[in-house]
Amino acid sequence: MSQNQIRKPPMGWLSWNMYAENIHEDLIRAMADAMVESGMKDCGYEYIIIDDCWSVREGRDEQGHLVPDPKKFPSGMKALADYVHSKGLKLGIYSDACRVTCAGWPGSYGYEEVDARTFAEWGIDFLKQDYWLDVPEGETAQGLYTRMGEALRNCGREIVYAVCEWGSNEPWKWAHSTGAAMWRTTWDIRDTWDSGIYDVQHNGFVNTVDVNAPLADFAGNGGYNDMDMICAGLYGKGSPANGGGACGCTDTEYQSQMTLWCIMNSPLLTCCDLANMNEATKRILMNREVLAVNQDGCTVQGRRMYAENGFEVFIKPLENGDYAAAVLNRNAEAGRFHLDLTQFGLPAAAEVRDLWAHEAVEHNRYGLDLQVESHETRLLRIRPQEKPCCVHGD
Ligand code: GLA
Repeated sequence: MSQNQIRKPPMGWLSWNMYAENIHEDLIRAMADAMVESGMKDCGYEYIIIDDCWSVREGRDEQGHLVPDPKKFPSGMKALADYVHSKGLKLGIYSDACRVTCAGWPGSYGYEEVDARTFAEWGIDFLKQDYWLDVPEGETAQGLYTRMGEALRNCGREIVYAVCEWGSNEPWKWAHSTGAAMWRTTWDIRDTWDSGIYDVQHNGFVNTVDVNAPLADFAGNGGYNDMDMICAGLYGKGSPANGGGACGCTDTEYQSQMTLWCIMNSPLLTCCDLANMNEATKRILMNREVLAVNQDGCTVQGRRMYAENGFEVFIKPLENGDYAAAVLNRNAEAGRFHLDLTQFGLPAAAEVRDLWAHEAVEHNRYGLDLQVESHETRLLRIRPQEKPCCVHGD
């Protein structure tokens, strides 16, 4: 695959964190409308994804097909896909590699080919494939995901494949080979900065960062470590995002999440009510200079190069020879940080740009001083005086 054909981290909206099983075709249409009207589509957001609980819970029809719940999707999935496509967007759906989904709806185990064909007939463009714990005897995660990957390859439609196995079986080592474009590395994200502990119920932004940062070697070239949903705009309202005691974040923290997900090349799947975003949420989700770091042609995941005294530095090479640098302050107080470019092996800087403020930052050849608020992440684009050879990660 040549460099410009490489798929970038998918961008879109996913129903789970805010709406869980309270989904309906009107909601899905409204989110598609809002993705266009808010300007998100113009910024590159593309997928509207229906998560768990969309089918008839009791089971399949006589031919073994999944059936959309007629109360939630009375017009059917094909009509919904047509609508979403008419907006210039793509429709995603959810299933599970096991017999039942995490919420207890029918999964795809034993029906991989039937389901892939059904999704293709409906015009589905993206499949999030979950992994409930009732793994049938003799099966492995890799085996189950390989089977669905194959079914998708043979279904007659291009469907982006997203593995959602939460990291327990190290999917970063094998998911790309099943055909997946992304694989979750962590438990479900909660709408909180730091949950203190990391487990199935508790997983704040920085807890996800700590699991994902060491996995940089496994991402790139059209396959990405998925850090789960972007929580901007939830403010503690979304359920299950507010499970495990999570009660929302400040806009500074949501902006930090966006920054860190961008520099680590995570897919960007938002989950708030797109039809009712405030200005702060729109500003966080639609900063084109920030999004460009995530969608850059050099698909290398940014690396955490420094972590001391509550400050962390992430560096990501960009296609045109620039570098993105993110400086995170995890402390409870604001602080000053000297970013020494030579310490990270970076060449002398000709220009440093603050991507959130859209302005040049004062610097000398070898570094700069930054004020970083508590839980803020500054994001810089550094243009070297002499461009190095471009690093593409291939
Ligand atoms: C798991 C996944 C979530 C969501 C739910 C649905 O917990 O990790 O993202 O899809 O299942 O039940």
